[in-house]
Amino acid sequence: MMAEHTHLIWTLVLLLLSDVISSDWDVHVEPVLCAVKGSSIDIPCSFTYPVGQTVKNVAWAHHEAAFVKGPFVFESTSEPTSTKFQYLGDKLHNCSLRIYKVENRDAGDYAFRFWTDRDRWTGYPGVNLNVSDLKIIQSNGNKVITEGDNVKLTCIIGCKDHSHFQWYKNGHPIIEGPSLYWNNISSNNSGNYSCSIKTHPQATPGVVSINVEYGPKNTSVSAEPGLEVYRGSKVTLTCSSDANPPVETFTWFKITSDHLVKVAGNKSELVFWECPQDAEGRYFCCATNKHGSKNSSVVELTVTGFLVRDIVIISAAVVVVTVLLIGIAALTFSRKLKTLSCAAENEQNSPKDAVYVNWHVSDIGQSQERDKREQPVKQIIYATIDFNNKTKTNMQQQQTGSGTSDESVTYSTVCRIKMLNPHELEIQS
Ligand SMILES: *[C@@H]1O[C@H](CO)[C@@H](O)[C@H](O)[C@H]1NC(C)=O
Ligand SMILES: *[C@@H]1O[C@H](CO)[C@@H](O)[C@H](O)[C@H]1NC(C)=O
Ligand SMILES: *[C@@H]1O[C@H](CO)[C@@H](O)[C@H](O)[C@H]1NC(C)=O
Ligand SMILES: *[C@@H]1O[C@H](CO)[C@@H](O)[C@H](O)[C@H]1NC(C)=O
Ligand SMILES: *[C@@H]1O[C@H](CO)[C@@H](O)[C@H](O)[C@H]1NC(C)=O
Ligand SMILES: *[C@@H]1O[C@H](CO)[C@@H](O)[C@H](O)[C@H]1NC(C)=O
Ligand SMILES: *[C@@H]1O[C@H](CO)[C@@H](O)[C@H](O)[C@H]1NC(C)=O
Ligand SMILES: *[C@@H]1O[C@H](CO)[C@@H](O)[C@H](O)[C@H]1NC(C)=O
Repeated sequence: MMAEHTHLIWTLVLLLLSDVISSDWDVHVEPVLCAVKGSSIDIPCSFTYPVGQTVKNVAWAHHEAAFVKGPFVFESTSEPTSTKFQYLGDKLHNCSLRIYKVENRDAGDYAFRFWTDRDRWTGYPGVNLNVSDLKIIQSNGNKVITEGDNVKLTCIIGCKDHSHFQWYKNGHPIIEGPSLYWNNISSNNSGNYSCSIKTHPQATPGVVSINVEYGPKNTSVSAEPGLEVYRGSKVTLTCSSDANPPVETFTWFKITSDHLVKVAGNKSELVFWECPQDAEGRYFCCATNKHGSKNSSVVELTVTGFLVRDIVIISAAVVVVTVLLIGIAALTFSRKLKTLSCAAENEQNSPKDAVYVNWHVSDIGQSQERDKREQPVKQIIYATIDFNNKTKTNMQQQQTGSGTSDESVTYSTVCRIKMLNPHELEIQS
């Protein structure tokens, strides 16, 4: 009995041993792996084969159809076809593979195949690679966010084993953790938010753009060229306001003594091309978008006296007067110039109708009473004197007047003479 039992046990042991021996051929991998898109992933792998054999070739295939015959994404006997796959293993028992920058098309089944000097083996069914995106879930869906809303952003990834998230606003790190939360969101929270996995910083981050909308704020009126303008000139009142989305409608109001008047037009600019006197007054504007309205403070437009037409006329008058004055001045000046150049001119002129006379110059200080003919001639000069009607009387005055006056000097240097009685003239040089 005992012997029989012992035999049975030994038989079982041998059977077990034979089973172990028959399963010498093996490839061990995780059946499912999750890769974060954009990052690299290692597929851990080990393999066994009957003792005494030598591994000659190792390869990895993507997609079941290629498991046996290839093409392979990696094969030790051929040149690598891409840098995307890197064999980390060896030709003993390690068959790990690294995939760089995982994309969606890298998802699917992978299998390891190897050849020994006697046989070959494929690690069927291999490993299923699941490629997962980092995604941000927005608590309010894709609805418009307005100031004051409660908003929660949650970062998710299909790969459960990655859960250490880092949040960024416009590329700058802000906080760590699976979610972001605002219980009264403000316009300054607008921006681009992204999350990434701390352990896989190179993974493609999840991104969401937060645009917090709000009604008009800080509505104000400005005036160009200013709030004090001349009647008839152009003035532009501009209403500006901060709003998201931008202001859709502008309404202009004028405050008159007893009531409020809505001014025509719905543009941001209120233009008076030729500002009339009655444009004067107090104005404000109201800016509106879909979230609300906001009134500006009141500005006061003052229109002062002159019409532009008046200014034009006055300016024209000033120009005319100036031109006249300049003309008169020029005329006077040219006359003076003419007088001065007269003598020179006369020298050049042909003294056709001039009469030349010999003239006795008496001694200075001698009285006219003295008989000139009796006096010895000291000097003879030639003079030409041009008399017009007016100067004739002057000449007569000169006969009796003092010979030292300026006028007599002038006469002595000037002129032609048509009619001459030399005895009646005293010419001094
Ligand atoms: C295989 O080799 C890689 C790289 O040398 C190593 O990181 C990995 O731990 C090894 N795997 C096994 C199962 O030995
Ligand atoms: C990949 O992971 C996602 C999320 O965990 C799952 O829904 C999907 O079925 C997986 N795909 C494969 C091929 O296993
Ligand atoms: C939200 O914030 C604004 C200012 O940012 C404040 O005026 C308002 O009272 C806040 N609302 C709540 C409900 O806290
Ligand atoms: C955003 O605005 C709120 C009030 O509206 C203020 O308390 C907060 O400091 C602002 N944040 C930034 C980053 O400016
Ligand atoms: C947010 O992203 C959009 C589109 O990618 C870009 O146009 C915008 O300038 C970004 N905003 C900021 C504040 O970086
Ligand atoms: C209002 O607008 C003016 C000019 O656009 C700006 O200087 C000022 O800082 C704004 N004030 C606020 C509270 O936004
Ligand atoms: C602004 O006024 C014009 C005509 O005056 C009108 O056609 C237009 O619809 C108005 N726009 C808005 C936003 O009210
Ligand atoms: C702006 O002023 C008008 C006229 O006084 C008024 O009817 C309106 O309610 C005001 N709007 C706001 C937002 O104060």
